Amino acid sequence: MRVKKGIEEIRNLFDLNGKVALVTGGSGALGKAVSIGLAAYGVDVVVCGLEMPLLEEVSDEIQEMGRKALPIFCDITDPDNVDQTVSRTLDEFGKIDILFNGAGIAHRQPSVEMPIEDWEKVMDVNVRGTLLCSRAVAGEMIKQGGGGNIITVGSVRGFQAHEGGYSAYGTSKAAVHYLTKQLAFEWAKYKIRVNCIAPCIFWSPLTEPILSDEESYRGYMARIPIGRAAEPEDFVGVTIFLASDASEMVTGHVLSVDGGTVGG
Ligand SMILES: NC(=O)c1ccc[n+]([C@@H]2O[C@H](COP(=O)([O-])OP(=O)(O)OC[C@H]3O[C@@H](n4cnc5c(N)ncnc54)[C@H](O)[C@@H]3O)[C@@H](O)[C@H]2O)c1
Repeated sequence: MRVKKGIEEIRNLFDLNGKVALVTGGSGALGKAVSIGLAAYGVDVVVCGLEMPLLEEVSDEIQEMGRKALPIFCDITDPDNVDQTVSRTLDEFGKIDILFNGAGIAHRQPSVEMPIEDWEKVMDVNVRGTLLCSRAVAGEMIKQGGGGNIITVGSVRGFQAHEGGYSAYGTSKAAVHYLTKQLAFEWAKYKIRVNCIAPCIFWSPLTEPILSDEESYRGYMARIPIGRAAEPEDFVGVTIFLASDASEMVTGHVLSVDGGTVGG
């Protein structure tokens, strides 16, 4: 069966007006930039995470842009919390079209010194949390009759090792890359696409200490051909692409947004 698009459909490939998104870690650097970015493209956004006052600020900003928004407390490692967040989103907005898994934690320590509890915590948030949110939302998307876009967040560290002590973090991100492909494969028949954004280092509270140190900044920049650390807003364009019909044939893809790092 052929699915041909007319010129109007091609013009509207990036149209997200009227869609509903759930963004985890919605008050984090990436989660906030993506939430505001989606709202700028006409999306109503539920921002969830751990810091209610910050989530309320993001929600207020979105409402000032003329879109609907709702802040919800949600620890993504708690299955009940995740299910309640999804139910509340459906109660308030009636559907979920987009999930952006923006919640995550960083960790750097030499492997021999790393308390094993740290490893477990990183896996719990970055891998298990991504699975819990993705499958809770996909379950509802399937009940809605299928269709929807799920975006996970990996990292260049999921591809490349680094002397900085990334055994837990890098492994968790490689697992997110794999999980993305696995879920995409399982849910393609429901027209639910699952793709991953793999950023290079970008400015956020997680990286401020690393990027503010001149020597460390130079070390990181030596690996980024484009010559600068990314900004959270650098991930909005690819999110719009992956959340919209512009990427209709893209699923199970890990999209490096890294100034050329992985290609170099
Ligand atoms: N900053 C970078 O350079 C960089 C590079 C590659 C990938 N990433 C990834 O991007 C994502 C966002 O990172 P960021 O730099 O914006 O960090 P951030 O700390 O600004 O945001 C992360 C958010 O996740 C939330 N969070 C943590 N644990 C949670 C939990 N259990 N339940 C719900 N929310 C939780 C935090 O409260 C915070 O709001 C992470 O997955 C990170 O690994 C970051």
